[in-house]
Amino acid sequence: MSAALKVNGLRKEVGGLVAVNEVSFEVAEGEFVGLIGPNGCGKSTTFNCISGLLDQTEGTVEVFGSDVSNQQPDQIQKLGLTRTFQHTRLWRQMTVIENLLVPPRKQMGDTLGESLRRLLAPYGNPSEEILLEKAYSTLEQLEVPHMAFNLASELSGGQSKLVDIGRSMMGDPRLLLLDEPVAGVAGPLAMKIFNNLRRIVDETGISVLIIEHNMDFILRQGVDRIIVMNEGEVLMIGTPEEVRGNRAVIEAYLGAAGDTGGEEE
Ligand SMILES: Nc1ncnc2c1ncn2[C@@H]1O[C@H](COP(=O)(O)OP(=O)(O)O)[C@@H](O)[C@H]1O
Ligand SMILES: [Mg+2]
Repeated sequence: MSAALKVNGLRKEVGGLVAVNEVSFEVAEGEFVGLIGPNGCGKSTTFNCISGLLDQTEGTVEVFGSDVSNQQPDQIQKLGLTRTFQHTRLWRQMTVIENLLVPPRKQMGDTLGESLRRLLAPYGNPSEEILLEKAYSTLEQLEVPHMAFNLASELSGGQSKLVDIGRSMMGDPRLLLLDEPVAGVAGPLAMKIFNNLRRIVDETGISVLIIEHNMDFILRQGVDRIIVMNEGEVLMIGTPEEVRGNRAVIEAYLGAAGDTGGEEE
């Protein structure tokens, strides 16, 4: 299998601090990979460098074979990469379906100030009907079509996360980067989100890299491999079986005791 994402020797200094150091890993096409580590270990910064929000200090990033190091987010998005953010930002006074029709901010190089047609340009200006159908089928894939006409402001934190994932899927990503999509989400819904992602990966062949900081949780969610980060560096990469019981991983997590529970939004 060829690589959807190749990160090589990534380093990012922020304000005199080394947030990410010598980080290298790959995500294959059709692979479901977890990126895990204690709070503050550099996971979101790694996503920011990959998706073009931050310029890295050193290292390279390749998306489907193209070197995207220090390119702009909208350039990288055109290659099929879409990401979500740790804190979901929905349009609260719009319905769920309307939220799905507005491309995620900070990725398309556009704002709501432009006409709707221009906003939808990243989707190739398909007809309204086709977009609506797509929004519905995305909600069906996530098993929440009944939420289509709820206002985003009425949703629970977990439901908002689901809609955010739905938005990220609207542009037909080939590589999806999700930043803590289940933080603060109740256990059963969090498991449902992971189950759905696993099914989507298996059915469509897209690649998903998902940040999570609860080790116990991710070990049981059926990801193919787990990248464990600690203090800005990759501690180990392996299958859930390999990660479970790895001495260095256990020590890193014991060192960050109390930091592995669910984070509230
Ligand atoms: N914009 C920033 N300015 C200063 N420090 C930052 C900034 N972004 C991240 N950091 C620091 O970089 C480290 C990694 O942060 P982050 O990538 O958000 O970690 P994680 O997502 O794993 O919780 C932390 O020590 C954090 O305080
Ligand atoms: Mg983070």
